[in-house]
Amino acid sequence: MSPANVGYQAPSVSVSSALPKRKVDSSVLIVPVVNGQDDGAAPTVVANPFLDAEAVGEIEVALEALGAKGGAESLTRVVVPSLPVDSVLAVGLGKNSGEWSADVIRRAAGAAARSLNGAETVLTTLSEIDLTAAVEGLILGAYRFTDFRSDKTAPKDPGLRAITALSTSAKKDDAQRAADIATAVATARDLVNTPPSHLFPDEFAKRAKALGEAAELKVEILDEKALEKAGYGGIVGVGKGSSRPPRLVRLTHKGAKRNGKRVALVGKGITFDTGGISIKPAANMHHMTSDMGGAAAVIATVVLAAKQKLPIDVIATVPMAENMPSATAQRPGDVLTQYGGITVEVLNTDAEGRLVLADAIVRAGEDEPDYLIETSTLTGAQTVALGARTPGVMGSDEFRDRVAALSQQVGENGWPMPLPEELKDDLKSTVADLANVSGSRYAGMLVAGTYLREFVPEGVQWAHIDIAAPAYNTGGPWGYTPKGGTGVPTRTMFAVLEDISANG
Ligand code: BES
Ligand code: ZN
Ligand code: MN
Repeated sequence: MSPANVGYQAPSVSVSSALPKRKVDSSVLIVPVVNGQDDGAAPTVVANPFLDAEAVGEIEVALEALGAKGGAESLTRVVVPSLPVDSVLAVGLGKNSGEWSADVIRRAAGAAARSLNGAETVLTTLSEIDLTAAVEGLILGAYRFTDFRSDKTAPKDPGLRAITALSTSAKKDDAQRAADIATAVATARDLVNTPPSHLFPDEFAKRAKALGEAAELKVEILDEKALEKAGYGGIVGVGKGSSRPPRLVRLTHKGAKRNGKRVALVGKGITFDTGGISIKPAANMHHMTSDMGGAAAVIATVVLAAKQKLPIDVIATVPMAENMPSATAQRPGDVLTQYGGITVEVLNTDAEGRLVLADAIVRAGEDEPDYLIETSTLTGAQTVALGARTPGVMGSDEFRDRVAALSQQVGENGWPMPLPEELKDDLKSTVADLANVSGSRYAGMLVAGTYLREFVPEGVQWAHIDIAAPAYNTGGPWGYTPKGGTGVPTRTMFAVLEDISANG
């Protein structure tokens, strides 16, 4: 694997201010449409400078003849011989509001891309409304994961071959930035979608290293011996039930000192979570291949920060372990010492995420960051509280709200949650400084956040993003989100890094 060829390869993207003069081979033009004026009226094409009245008329007549609808993400393919493409794919934006949020454009582009067979060159006028959202949506929607298909005679589905974003105002740079962001998300998805048979701590660390080196990051890996020696009791304790020992990966991007800010990223990298001796039920245990979704997003984000040359320091600290039951596994009731010295009674070996994260958070704190963003598939309680698509954001009040607001802007929709003081009492242990679980069924997501708060250094603004369900789509595909790994919250974290780069 050469460094230039590490990770997901995005389709090529270009920007053009006019439709091509000659017919493009195997091409499709994606055109946004909206609901007609009256109930039941045929959809109308969103006005754009690329299609003249005649072409618009032809598309609208065809849509009417087919009884097409303009509702959000509805799709209709028509043939328009006067245009230099094989076909036109009309995609609905819903109501004719004249203004659409970035995520409406992103989802429409994603739905359109999902319906293509991958062999086509895509042109679109969605980019005249919002170029970044259109390009992101197309690449995210076109994402496929075929690494483990055995049919080698079928060509590997490339998703999309090439994208031409039609725009009268955008620059090539905007398109490239959007493609880079979508590529980072795809990298995170690839890591999540790689099964636990093939992605275990050592292999995960090697992949992180390859991605880091290709982006010219400083890479540091601690193996099980180094972890034991340095006192990473949480990572060692969780990892010791597995024949595949744990790792701690550190990836550093040094920014040009514009505002001198430093951001620590921490992500949970449990390559498979059986629960350990406190074993999980068999039903849906296979979903626990996604228990390294936080780590995947953090790795993708620091690589993206380097690619975009953000003028801040970004240091990712990523604990990796496999949580297995065995004769060498930790037991419920064991006491371990987290990195830094706090002792913990492990009452439930399935609450393993907070054990590896506490070590990583303390290590990240030694770099004296201004901000710390940590993200994890941490609790089933996240899903009970917020559902499958809404990450829970906890942390210091101001930064938590900033992270949640940016998450909503990028369409990942993180929502702020409190950490009530009284929950700390639930983590009292009779033998150690802390217990790793509370005795109560209430507020499981907030209890986990409360546990992590104990390890965040004084004065560091921090946010904890629980992505238990949002990291992994177990339902059908929707918008630009496929089944399986979603890459959430890569775009949230990158938006926060860009915001800190611009505003401190
Ligand atoms: N990895 C799980 C959380 C999870 C559950 C992620 C469902 C994705 C989907 C985590 O390690 C876990 O097992 N948490 C326990 C905590 C409990 C023992 C306090 C849980 O949520 O049940
Ligand atoms: Zn877990
Ligand atoms: Mn668990």
